[in-house]
Amino acid sequence: MSKSITRRGFLGHSLGLGAGAFLANPLLAFQPSAGEKTPLIITSHTNETGKRAMEAGWEILTAGGSAVDAVEKAANIIEVDPEDTSVGYGGLPNEHGIVQLDASIMDGKTYNAGAVACLEKIKTPCSVARIVMERTDHILLVGEGALTFARQWGFKEEDLMTDKARKSWLKWKESLSDIDDWGPPDHLKDNQKIAALFSDREEVEHHYGTTNVLAVDTKGDVAGITTTSGLSYKIPGRVGDSPIIGAGLYVDNEVGAAGATGRGEDVMKCCASFYMVMRMKEGRTPQQACEDALKLIVEKYKKVNPEFFPSEKFVAISANGQYGCASMKGRDLPGMSVRNQSGYNIARGSVLMKM
Ligand code: GLY
Repeated sequence: MSKSITRRGFLGHSLGLGAGAFLANPLLAFQPSAGEKTPLIITSHTNETGKRAMEAGWEILTAGGSAVDAVEKAANIIEVDPEDTSVGYGGLPNEHGIVQLDASIMDGKTYNAGAVACLEKIKTPCSVARIVMERTDHILLVGEGALTFARQWGFKEEDLMTDKARKSWLKWKESLSDIDDWGPPDHLKDNQKIAALFSDREEVEHHYGTTNVLAVDTKGDVAGITTTSGLSYKIPGRVGDSPIIGAGLYVDNEVGAAGATGRGEDVMKCCASFYMVMRMKEGRTPQQACEDALKLIVEKYKKVNPEFFPSEKFVAISANGQYGCASMKGRDLPGMSVRNQSGYNIARGSVLMKM
């Protein structure tokens, strides 16, 4: 991924970050670089489904298939996993209990892109985004228009809410407030019970989810997908960074690709994926570009609320087969699933932790 980095080295290439404000966790070191090899496919998902997705994408790449086909196939596998509450089928719903999905795709070879936002009832939003990219002159379709478009192209409408996601949503509603009518009846509440009920508030599943899939094929063409159910329990209609080209995803065939997970509001304001690709164009490695984008966000927030600590994780690949990832927080180094000629592995990036 990237050469080892010391605390001094990390600060040395920061973007003017105030000394001591944010540091790389000194306890966590990088894994050694895996070198430069193409074809290559990566995802920000490091679970078993992520591994299966990488193997499926790899099969396409090694058969001479395109990066676009590989990222779509891989992302579809993650999207239809009912156990995954961050993406596609089984994703956590909005505050009204409706699953609304966002996704984007970009093809470096054609410099074309497509996206959908607030798409309901379709398990594979990235495939709808691909048709927007390839069969229209538009880039982004939203809500009812996106669903009508998907219907016209033969996508099956399905209930995307799994029992697991519904239970998480109900638990969230019950833990929201002790003065609304969600939760046990008033006559069953006493102070101890209320305390017990809300003491586990932090255990309510709540996240920004998202997966990125990026690939380089045997011809050297680069493509990427970002797909998500977005912020859990969001205000209906809220759109995050994932379907915004330049924010949640960006691809440049000459340079590489980058994708974001985490709080979309942060990612959109700094056009993080575009920024990472432009940093790589200036000679930064994917690992360094991910760190540069995180530092850009930290630097901005430092001026308005030094206590605020964003939650992003960025991944990036170069057209020549390097890769990297970095995250704002977490006890462990952020991971990414990587498949190339060396096989499948979970590569580790860098984490910025507030000191
Ligand atoms: N990164 C996903 C979202 O904010 O919706």
